[in-house]
Amino acid sequence: MPRLLLTGGQGMVGQNIRAHHQAKSWEILAPTSTELDLTDEHLVRAYIKANKPDVVVHAAGRVGGIQANMAHPVDFLDVNNVIGRNVIMSAWAEGVRDLINLGSTCMYPAAAPNPLSEDMILTGPLEPTNEGYALAKIMAMRLCNYINREDAGARFKTLIPCNLFGPHDKFDPKHSHLLPAIIHKVHQAKIDKQSTVEIWGDGTAQREFMYAPDLADAVWCAVTDIEALPELTNIGLGQDHTINHYYAEVARVIGWTGDFVHDLTRPVGMKQKLCDTSRAQEWGWRAPTSLRTGIEETYKFYCERYIG
Ligand SMILES: NC(=O)c1ccc[n+]([C@@H]2O[C@H](COP(=O)([O-])OP(=O)(O)OC[C@H]3O[C@@H](n4cnc5c(N)ncnc54)[C@H](OP(=O)(O)O)[C@@H]3O)[C@@H](O)[C@H]2O)c1
Repeated sequence: MPRLLLTGGQGMVGQNIRAHHQAKSWEILAPTSTELDLTDEHLVRAYIKANKPDVVVHAAGRVGGIQANMAHPVDFLDVNNVIGRNVIMSAWAEGVRDLINLGSTCMYPAAAPNPLSEDMILTGPLEPTNEGYALAKIMAMRLCNYINREDAGARFKTLIPCNLFGPHDKFDPKHSHLLPAIIHKVHQAKIDKQSTVEIWGDGTAQREFMYAPDLADAVWCAVTDIEALPELTNIGLGQDHTINHYYAEVARVIGWTGDFVHDLTRPVGMKQKLCDTSRAQEWGWRAPTSLRTGIEETYKFYCERYIG
């Protein structure tokens, strides 16, 4: 059986990669941060030397929301940069030929026009609130590009996923992204028999949220079809919805029938951030799951594993 080293295997993305049906055909090494601290270059190199993976999927990182990024910019730049460098350089030095590196849409310039296409990276200033994180992600992507340039046998490729939601998400309001936060809020409203739920702003801002098992599907397609995969590929839906639409869909799935009220004094963030998915489609991949099914499955996970 081929062997795959998955960094971040206990994280939200990593757990969905491990749950995908393709994972059964691979021996997957998914050390926790306690078992293998990726900030330690010597440990990472020794681990790869000892275990000789055929493929590396790099899905580990110091990940957080705007507040955490703003409070700890040193950590977000330094830790992610060091982890990326250690994983990519150690894999290359130990003769790994295939590596999938996960980026993030924060790598795009703050003022880039929508939809965001891959050639817009490094064409303008980054969003200041998560600049450090974005710089570390760009460094890892460039390192992969340079390795491919110097070594004709290397296939070190980067996927840029859009925002995700799904099983193994963080639902705690202090750490959650928009969709799990909406699920938690509307579920609470149903339990507490509230007649209204508040939405920040007018709810017309557009957001692209993909079901995390669909990213896992793209990662497995990348692993098994790495030669044809471009060096840098957005993985998203190519389609977005208003925040009001996400609230309405979640309410439908949960069966809460109250009213939404808008607090227009609250900040709304960017009007839109949408990936151009034409490169992924040319390669042959599209997200298979509908928004409704994704929300249903995520709500099931929330009920069984988070509150249950
Ligand atoms: N979630 C999203 O919406 C989203 C969207 C686009 C891109 N991505 C990208 O996908 C990747 C994974 O994100 P995620 O949402 O799965 O994050 P997550 O749930 O926070 O998981 C992060 C993982 O990284 C590991 N890690 C952190 N520091 C480490 C260290 N020093 N040594 C070893 N492992 C370490 C953690 O291990 P332990 O748990 O063992 O500490 C954890 O498994 C990131 O690169 C992120 O930028 C995520």
